[in-house]
Amino acid sequence: MRKVRLIIVFLIVGLLASCTSPNDSSNPRDETIPHEDLIELTLEELSYYDGKEGRPAYVAVNGMIYDVTNSLFWQSGSHNGYSAGRDLTDAIINQSPHGLSTLTQVPIVGILVESKD
Ligand code: HEM
Repeated sequence: MRKVRLIIVFLIVGLLASCTSPNDSSNPRDETIPHEDLIELTLEELSYYDGKEGRPAYVAVNGMIYDVTNSLFWQSGSHNGYSAGRDLTDAIINQSPHGLSTLTQVPIVGILVESKD
């Protein structure tokens, strides 16, 4: 009888576990972003997205462009002496205390390209 009860408990737990969706997190890194949804910006174009005067704040790291506009740590496009609109690969790896780990908290919006031809 105890065995039967145990089996029933396992069945219920298994059923509940299969009902919860593994994709209900809002982290964009859980899904692959279709390439056509990514914008392509040169360094020069990226400099427009500095987070000042209502402009979005984008930063490039290792060829990817991250949108930090809504990050509490990037008010007006500035963060610990660094400005958005730039490639901060070297700074985030060699100067920041967190390294690349915080990039999972901000959405990827594009890729950095050398030129548009
Ligand atoms: C390039 C993209 C960067 C992103 C997306 C980013 C994001 C963040 C986030 C989300 C935090 C909050 C703390 C946490 O969750 O661990 C944080 C903290 C911090 N970051 Fe960055 N960061 C970047 C670059 C840098 C750079 C270049 C520096 C240079 C020194 C830096 C220095 C710091 C420091 C000192 C903190 C501690 C908390 C504070 O801001 O007062 N970060 N960063």
